[in-house]
Amino acid sequence: MGTRGAAVAVSIATAAGPPPVDSSSLAATVTDGPGGAGVAWEDGTIVYAGHAEGLPWAPTIGSPDAGCLVPGFVDCHVHLPFVGWRDDEFEARLRGVSYRELHGQDGGIFRSSRMLRAADDDEVLGFCRPLLDEMLTLGTTAVELKTGYGLSVEEELRQARLARRLAAEAAQACSVTLLACHAVPDGWDRAEWVGVACDELIPRAAAERLVDAVDVYVEDIAFTLDDLDAVADAAAVAGLPLRVHADQLGHTGAAARAAELGARSADHLNHTDTGGTEALAASGTIAVLLPASTFFLRARPADVAALRSADAAIAVATDFNPGTSPVCSMPEAIAMASTVYGLAPLEALTAATVNPAHVLGLGDRLGRLAPGLRADLLLLDAPRFASVPYRPGHDPVVATIVGGEVVAERGA
Ligand code: NIG
Ligand code: FE
Repeated sequence: MGTRGAAVAVSIATAAGPPPVDSSSLAATVTDGPGGAGVAWEDGTIVYAGHAEGLPWAPTIGSPDAGCLVPGFVDCHVHLPFVGWRDDEFEARLRGVSYRELHGQDGGIFRSSRMLRAADDDEVLGFCRPLLDEMLTLGTTAVELKTGYGLSVEEELRQARLARRLAAEAAQACSVTLLACHAVPDGWDRAEWVGVACDELIPRAAAERLVDAVDVYVEDIAFTLDDLDAVADAAAVAGLPLRVHADQLGHTGAAARAAELGARSADHLNHTDTGGTEALAASGTIAVLLPASTFFLRARPADVAALRSADAAIAVATDFNPGTSPVCSMPEAIAMASTVYGLAPLEALTAATVNPAHVLGLGDRLGRLAPGLRADLLLLDAPRFASVPYRPGHDPVVATIVGGEVVAERGA
């Protein structure tokens, strides 16, 4: 007999089908009943989810009179590992200096790159560990870790190795992305860096098995559509899926190209046009919305109504980074996705669980409350999931369970 556990609450809310789930499908299902609803697991794997009366054994956590059970949040766009904050840039932006101007003045990504180089490995890990723990208490049970602050072959590989070390220690399931082209390194010609990224960095990261995907930032201050094509080729040769930072500060057409290239995701999408929206909807590429960076930069919101009416599959993530989104809370990102982007609460739940699991290549292992999947779930303090977007700034998570283990508990 394996290690068994079960959780009970007033209700369960979970996406039903396997990912990607588009907005024409039922976003999520809610189960409740007189005795509440429950989830049971054995050896870290879910064996039952439904009415509490059907639980195969007595609950080990929760009460049928309180709260809601949902799958653990999957944060699929995260710029950890980084080291050091940039709150003075935030103040400068409030005085009217733009994010682009800070980037041009060697701030922004270049500044985080200098801080990463100046810190030794233990300092970087010591900075990141409490942040991953904070994310765990806020319900993030699977997370992306990205490079992109290395800005040289050796530093990018170092950042990827640090990401793998964090992944080995973290309670969360982690997926590491090589953001091979994030900014043109100082003293380099753009095309020259893209060549080195494609010919040396991506192959070496793949050969060392350091990363699970490759990302590229397409923007007028960063890389072009041709660069995206080159990175996509190199990623395909290395056998790695593609992610794209697309149409964030302005329109480049990167979302449409990401869809054509069969990328796992196109992220940001603030300036994506109708063509891009339709291309995403017609493809298997997930539209990753990052409302916290939109809010923090006071940027133009993505056209979420168009994405929804085209039936694109949508994910929501934090974009946690020191420049455009110092927000590591998925409940906060979900609140912004509802109020700023107009997602219905259960649509936001799908966007925060099953679809981002697919983006990270983990969709067959986690992201739903269904038998056979890893027992990653949250006990929330209100009986309906709608209270999460309804109460921004409140931490709704009573307990975070990963693989059937309670890894964070309120008041513990
Ligand atoms: O996703 N867009 C580019 N990269 C990050 C910001 C990086 C930074 O400012 O440090 C983003 O917003
Ligand atoms: Fe990003």
